[in-house]
Amino acid sequence: NSGICRRKIIKRVNNKIRMDEAKVVDMIDIEDISEKAAFCRCWKSKNWPYCDGSHGEHNKECNDNLGPVVVSRKQK
Ligand code: FES
Repeated sequence: NSGICRRKIIKRVNNKIRMDEAKVVDMIDIEDISEKAAFCRCWKSKNWPYCDGSHGEHNKECNDNLGPVVVSRKQK
């Protein structure tokens, strides 16, 4: 790890997820979310589209503050 933010060098946001697709779109059926799910917004997850904590390394490397969007069901 050189400590250099790669985003300063590479203009793309996505350099990892399904690079062969013109647009990365994920459809999640709300019925498949049991209680809550965290979705990646940093494009670095190895478990896309879910957050796997990889944003933490990015944030350290780039002094950034990225995190997931968490979708949860209302308690009934
Ligand atoms: Fe991307 Fe957590 S791994 S937001």
